[in-house]
Amino acid sequence: MRLQTVLLAAAFVFLTEADDQHRPPPPTTPALSNGLAKTPPMGFSTWNQFGDQISEQLIIETIDTMASNGLRDAGFVFINLDDGWQRYPGNRSYHPGPIEADPVKFPKGIKYLSDYAHSKGFKFGIYNGPGQQTCAGYIGSEGHVEEDAATWASWGVDHLKYDSCCSEGPTAPQAEVETIFRNMSLALLATKRPIVFHACHCGWADIWKWAAHDGANQWRIGQDIPDDFNYPGYRDGYYFDVLEMLDRGRGLEKYSGPGHWNDYDMLIVGLNGNSTQLEGTGCSNVEYRSHFTMWCMVASPLLIGADVRTLSAYDLQTLTNKEVIAISQDPLGKVATVVHEDLTLQTQVYAKDMSDGSKAVAYLNRGTLTANITVDPFKDLHVWWKQYHVRDLWKHQDMGIFNFSNPYMVEVFAHEVKALRFTPIWS
Ligand code: GLA
Repeated sequence: MRLQTVLLAAAFVFLTEADDQHRPPPPTTPALSNGLAKTPPMGFSTWNQFGDQISEQLIIETIDTMASNGLRDAGFVFINLDDGWQRYPGNRSYHPGPIEADPVKFPKGIKYLSDYAHSKGFKFGIYNGPGQQTCAGYIGSEGHVEEDAATWASWGVDHLKYDSCCSEGPTAPQAEVETIFRNMSLALLATKRPIVFHACHCGWADIWKWAAHDGANQWRIGQDIPDDFNYPGYRDGYYFDVLEMLDRGRGLEKYSGPGHWNDYDMLIVGLNGNSTQLEGTGCSNVEYRSHFTMWCMVASPLLIGADVRTLSAYDLQTLTNKEVIAISQDPLGKVATVVHEDLTLQTQVYAKDMSDGSKAVAYLNRGTLTANITVDPFKDLHVWWKQYHVRDLWKHQDMGIFNFSNPYMVEVFAHEVKALRFTPIWS
């Protein structure tokens, strides 16, 4: 008896020590949190369509359009200025005064725009970078971190995209990148204004592992998205198309959750190959719909990158599908994982736990031929439901009651996604 106890104790010590060797060292800094973004942020960003060709009039018209065409009411509330709102190009050290907006593009100033956004039920976002210059060559925040955070707070800013990819680069050590984000996070917290913090570093330095600890609410998992669903061939290694971005997210699901999200980059729905910034020739209606569905499944932030004033009726319907948006905004904050795949047919099934006990399920056809897709509830979804009810979230139709010997199977076109909700029937 005594020997057993001794052996058990020794085994415990051995296992604990072995386990400790594989554990990353605990962070030496306290965790930061602003308590915001309990669900993935939704809104509009200027970059994908307009680059730095932005103006007061564009933003006012964007706000007015989104207030009246259903986008605001579907949840797209952030109106985010990306790069190019700043007055000066060049190094910050040549412009040591407080950061200013370009007076030609924004004659009434940023506070006027954020007040306008707030008066119409929106929130307002801004962009800058930590170095001397931002990615588009405007002055960065180096040496002015606290001052800039205070300026943005005084303008009524609710979201900051702070983009280090051009100043720190893909090989910058984690400690260096972490410090610059942490410093801005602390500066934002010091303003006492609730400001959602996007730590944007193009998916380098394993940012998903540490950014939430440093107070970030979202971080990009990859470089920029192009306007392509599946670019056929090698491009330049910089862009991740829709399917590549989804693959990039595999294995990173656990880093996302309420308050801190893996960001698969801004939406390309509606760009139709007309972006002034992104490579790519555009996608079909079906591909844009699949892209939107999958961004909801993986709980990515949802920032519309197209010109909302000229969206087609189809794209508007895509972006305002409340049943699909409910997957993105579910309070449990889970990220869908691949539960089944067929490498020959190039089909995948993604599933995500919902807070009401149901499952959001996406049947994704990555291939170029129509395929029948199904999923085994026991083997793949690990549920012991005798029967389940299936709803098609794009058709807005109940598809019937199914069970393990008769699982839901459906024909899925090339590059199409069937967005489904499986709800157990217990009686
Ligand atoms: C980087 C980012 C883009 C955009 C531009 C702005 O390329 O990845 O999303 O913010 O900078 O210059």
